[in-house]
Amino acid sequence: MNSEFAVELKNIHKQFGVRKILRGVNIKVNKGETMVFLGGSGTGKSVSIRHVVGLLEPDIGNVFIDGEEMSFASEKKRKKLRANMGLLFQSGALINWLSVYENVALPLKELQLADENEIHTRVIEKLRWLDLIPAKDLFPANISGGMKKRVGLARSLITNPTLLMYDEPTSGLDPVMSQVINELVVRLKNELGVTQIVVTHDMNSAYYIADRITFLYKGQVLYVGSPDDIKNSDNPIIQQFITGKTEGPMQIDAQDISKK
Ligand SMILES: Nc1ncnc2c1ncn2[C@@H]1O[C@H](COP(=O)(O)OP(=O)(O)OP(=O)(O)O)[C@@H](O)[C@H]1O
Ligand SMILES: [Mg+2]
Repeated sequence: MNSEFAVELKNIHKQFGVRKILRGVNIKVNKGETMVFLGGSGTGKSVSIRHVVGLLEPDIGNVFIDGEEMSFASEKKRKKLRANMGLLFQSGALINWLSVYENVALPLKELQLADENEIHTRVIEKLRWLDLIPAKDLFPANISGGMKKRVGLARSLITNPTLLMYDEPTSGLDPVMSQVINELVVRLKNELGVTQIVVTHDMNSAYYIADRITFLYKGQVLYVGSPDDIKNSDNPIIQQFITGKTEGPMQIDAQDISKK
């Protein structure tokens, strides 16, 4: 069921307990597009991504992946849809007792997608892309935060997914390494036509990589547009966010503050 959209979130509502987090989110991501999700802390960016991967079920609404319903599909169907996806978690989510090499190889081994030689070739290629060859035999406890992030990214790329999602890929990275990630995102788009959704607070990165930006506010989509559209938007909330001003109309989620 080919759809013109790689991903469609349709009227997604989600609450945890009494807290309404997503209040009718509608987002369409075109094939081969890099879509950036922007928004304040606690607005539901990570929760939205978890719906795309099928790790969360909406209370109301549906998620379609390439036209196929994901939200309420059988576990078998979800696994099939997920096989074409890569997800870089905000935390990196590495396995502490496996080396860098083994962490990156893990999805291929779990899904039994390749033999040892093929696994080796693919792991080394990804480690090279992300400048991780010198770290290949180290364990997560012995590498820096920025390296962990890159290992997580190498792991999410290893199955050659057609849809990649990154939750804060450049946070905690120095400016040079951030640019390495930015260039990788652009390369994956241009050379492999991968569809990408990137959650970020890093405006330089957003402007560099995005075809379009979705701005989430209070569990809804406030604005969708190109980087230039957003820069020129006269919406005061968006202007406050992208210029990083403390004074302005943007309301910070009080519930989220009390949690932190
Ligand atoms: N499984 C869960 N159970 C209960 N509350 C949750 C759960 N997951 C997320 N939340 C809450 O939903 C809200 C939105 O979370 P989310 O992680 O999507 O924020 P975010 O936009 O990614 O923020 P940040 O920029 O800080 O990462 C937060 O208040 C969070 O505490
Ligand atoms: Mg988040």
